[in-house]
Amino acid sequence: MLAVAALAGLAGCTSQPAATAPQASAAPLRTIAEKSGLRVGVAVDTDRLSDSAYAKLTAQQFSTVTPENAMKWEVVEPKQGQYDWSAADKLVDFAQAHGQLVRGHNLVWYSQLPQWLTDEAPSLTADQLSAILQKHITDEVTHFTGKIWQWDVVNEAFDDSGNLRDNIWIEKLGPDYIADAFRWAHAADPDAKLFLNDYGIETDGLKSQAEYDFVKQLVAQGVPIDGVGFETHLDADDPEQDLQTVMTQYAKLGIDVAITEADVKARTPVSKIDKTIQSSMFADSMSACLAVKQCISYTLWDLDDKDSWIPQYFPGEGGATLYDDELKPKPQYVALQQALAKGVKTAPPRSK
Ligand code: G3I
Repeated sequence: MLAVAALAGLAGCTSQPAATAPQASAAPLRTIAEKSGLRVGVAVDTDRLSDSAYAKLTAQQFSTVTPENAMKWEVVEPKQGQYDWSAADKLVDFAQAHGQLVRGHNLVWYSQLPQWLTDEAPSLTADQLSAILQKHITDEVTHFTGKIWQWDVVNEAFDDSGNLRDNIWIEKLGPDYIADAFRWAHAADPDAKLFLNDYGIETDGLKSQAEYDFVKQLVAQGVPIDGVGFETHLDADDPEQDLQTVMTQYAKLGIDVAITEADVKARTPVSKIDKTIQSSMFADSMSACLAVKQCISYTLWDLDDKDSWIPQYFPGEGGATLYDDELKPKPQYVALQQALAKGVKTAPPRSK
């Protein structure tokens, strides 16, 4: 639930003279997060690593990175059997050079599939499609073995009503494709933490409950799932969140959780009050993560507003990140930084 008192306090700040505006501390997010045993990350557009200002901020502020697109199936296997790891390797090298861990994103999704697969899928038998999926997971995880901290093994498996999403995997392979994907990934890299990643599970509701029940079953069946990723794509128009409650339920199953794609969109140009709400929502999601010992990382989706996916997908909305178009930190950055500085979460119980 949004901390209404905090929101009221911040809202009050906006009507104060500029002198009271919150100031960023000089300490980078990754340094502040260390004392709580939390990794703070960002989704990286690998093409932008050649921009020195972008690369510098990415290295300074974050202790984990996620490829925004570079590890997706359409990118790594544009033609069947012909792999192109160049963009993903570049990010892994960058991460290693800057002491960062990598969240691999993602192995199985319904979107950004290669054209050859989308074209072929309708005429394939279940066994043929299953073999293609197994090979993809095995080859990709093997390519990066030892270099990936967390893999988003299956991405967005549920639809907004809480049903398993109707996609090529469910149509041909049924629900077992999810457990199989985790088993294949585990076989290829037993040390990587394997995640189910989804959006819209930050508030208690149909989707969140269905996904929890499903994960509980996977755990009971001994499927090698290590965690659940909360994308946390939030909206200033809808400030309700139950993140801490929902994350705690998963933690009680003995698995980790992570905030994997945090951003908070608003209608543009973003009003003062919406900026305040965005700040509060970033702070609250960080506080929720810090309150749950098993919340191992907090990742932002895109560094700056110029790079954000939001305006393309939600015309008329934006302002969803911590940095403006000139890579200057916004008040939302300060709010997140201050929430992070309050600390608490300690090291996760399991070393994997
Ligand atoms: O591949 C073409 C390229 O050939 C062309 O030159 C370029 C010109 O615009 O477009 C490229 O495709 C874009 C692709 O990203 C790769 O850059 C698509 O237009 C664009 O729509 C696509 O968007 C990505 C989106 O996933 C696709 O679903 C976003 O960058 C990425 O941020 C977004 O990330 C997802 C997560 O993976 C899962 N959770 C939701 C999140 C936001 O949608």
